[in-house]
Amino acid sequence: MCGIVGYIGPKQAADYLMEGLRRLEYRGYDSSGVVTLEDSGELAVTKAAGRIDKLAARLRDASHHGGLGLGHTRWATHGAANDVNSHPHLGGAGEVALVHNGVIENFRALREQLEGMGYKFITETDSEVVAHLLAAEYKAVQESLGDEPTQDPYAPLVEAVRATVSQLRGTYGLGVVFRDHPDVILAARLGSPLVIGVGSGENFIASDGSPLVGHTDKITYLSDHEIAVVTADSIRLHDREQGPITHKVSRLEIDESQVSLNGFPHYMLKEIFEQPETIRNAMRGRLDEDEATAKFGGLNLTPRQLQRVDRLVLTACGTSWHSALLGEYMLEAFARIPVEVEYASELRYRNPPLSTNSLLFAITQSGETIDTLAALREIKRKGHPTLAICNVVGSTIAREADGGVYLHAGPEIGVASTKAYTSQCTVLALLALYIGRLNHLSFEAGLRIIEELKALPDQVEKALDCNNEARRIAAKYSGCNNFLYLGRQYNFPTALEGALKLKEISYIHAEGYPAAEMKHGPIALVDENTPSVFIVPQGGVYHKVISNMEEIKARGGPLIAVVDDPGGRAAELADDVICVPSVSEFLQPIVAAVPLQLLAYHIAVLRGCDVDKPRNLAKSVTVE
Ligand code: F6R
Repeated sequence: MCGIVGYIGPKQAADYLMEGLRRLEYRGYDSSGVVTLEDSGELAVTKAAGRIDKLAARLRDASHHGGLGLGHTRWATHGAANDVNSHPHLGGAGEVALVHNGVIENFRALREQLEGMGYKFITETDSEVVAHLLAAEYKAVQESLGDEPTQDPYAPLVEAVRATVSQLRGTYGLGVVFRDHPDVILAARLGSPLVIGVGSGENFIASDGSPLVGHTDKITYLSDHEIAVVTADSIRLHDREQGPITHKVSRLEIDESQVSLNGFPHYMLKEIFEQPETIRNAMRGRLDEDEATAKFGGLNLTPRQLQRVDRLVLTACGTSWHSALLGEYMLEAFARIPVEVEYASELRYRNPPLSTNSLLFAITQSGETIDTLAALREIKRKGHPTLAICNVVGSTIAREADGGVYLHAGPEIGVASTKAYTSQCTVLALLALYIGRLNHLSFEAGLRIIEELKALPDQVEKALDCNNEARRIAAKYSGCNNFLYLGRQYNFPTALEGALKLKEISYIHAEGYPAAEMKHGPIALVDENTPSVFIVPQGGVYHKVISNMEEIKARGGPLIAVVDDPGGRAAELADDVICVPSVSEFLQPIVAAVPLQLLAYHIAVLRGCDVDKPRNLAKSVTVE
């Protein structure tokens, strides 16, 4: 949510900034802009509302030659998505420029105060307040120093940033340049991610690792309350309260092929087709046939501690919340432990009575979702152990949880989550097996689950064969304005996820329901223009779901069915059928997710929607 890049080194910063912004565009695409410090001593700013191509077109007529600069791609929070509200923002009379990701909650009070001091505002944003505040603090630091030289030339800049962020309430990831200091970028964070790319004779800042690919494989993660001083040859970190601190350099685990389209028209389609491999990666090295269980390196909880757990709380947002819901079904079935699934945005403000031995799982692709992070912190504060199921290595949630499991799905760039979802479901199945084997699950049952999991990537590969059929069905129904998605038990979360995929990328209204609940209200929506997508593979509730299909058919509603028995009653009843391989019930949601993702994808393409960058959305929601 908002992307930040920065460059300092011998090259023209603008080239890198534009490349980096394109890699970060999935974090926000309402507008974008760059600032560079030019030889003339001026901070040159170019901004454009709309997609990055608009900025690129403007840059062709602008002059950006400096080797120091910042770029920003915006997901609007305060103020319309127009040119003037775009970042970077200048502070004072152009002494400083900054880019900001996050929300400043007390910006109104600060703005009034700064206006009273004579600062002129030209935008409606909360971020411009930070720019002027920084200019004011910088001026105050300079005045207090007078002509006295400082031993460390950057100390006044650090002090100005420190004094500024100390007054902010809310969240920020900040990149800052000072007009009088052509050799340094400052960065600061609280609640919004920032990383530093460690180069050779050049250094970078970014919201995540993807803009660093091809430039450096060394990365330093900034933590909350830290301020970084980045020159072309050095990186120094300060804690806001404690002063200078040492920093760790890690290896960036992303390669070029993972951030390029590789011949696919969209990242979403590429990521859908990556799923056999990403599911394999989620299981790699984690199946233990000798003990008929799963094994994990980073849980940081002993088997004895896990055996004492008497309540699991799974928290997440959006698609990740749907995987949590599936996790509830799997964990209750295999581990026989009470599970609660909570929207992180609700959990963070609740005070649920938890037993001493409750354990929290935070499930998140990005590892940066602010609600999930806040929920994790709240539960951790009350003394409960917390584990993260996360895709992005080194992300805030991965670092703050007591332990966890990485998905190893590679970067997910399409805004609509696909491969991360199926990997989350796979990891939850492994955890259910592991905790189950510590409790009630027999050796034989454990082995059977392992065999089923081992076959899963190939079954998902076969499910991808339905692509043409999904496209055909998409063409038939792409003009409809309402869809219902219905499934029961393990496939209730599948229905929710299918509906979310459709609505977020095609803007069609879609609702997911437990199939039988449909009679308690949503059935009133059924007419000949409202297709119902049933997820109805064979299993314990097969005949019950068929009754629900009959009820819709009797009212003239079109039926699309995802089945695993093409000759069965569900296929017979449906107007259109997508067949997927037959798998055990707990794995059906993973296999059935594939046709639902493809159906949503093709409908969105046929309706001319921007599949990878749906309107109003952004990847990694770092505001509340
Ligand atoms: C939908 C989607 C979102 C995310 C949600 C949580 O396709 O991607 O609903 O699932 O914003 O994000 P993470 O998993 O990064 O915490």
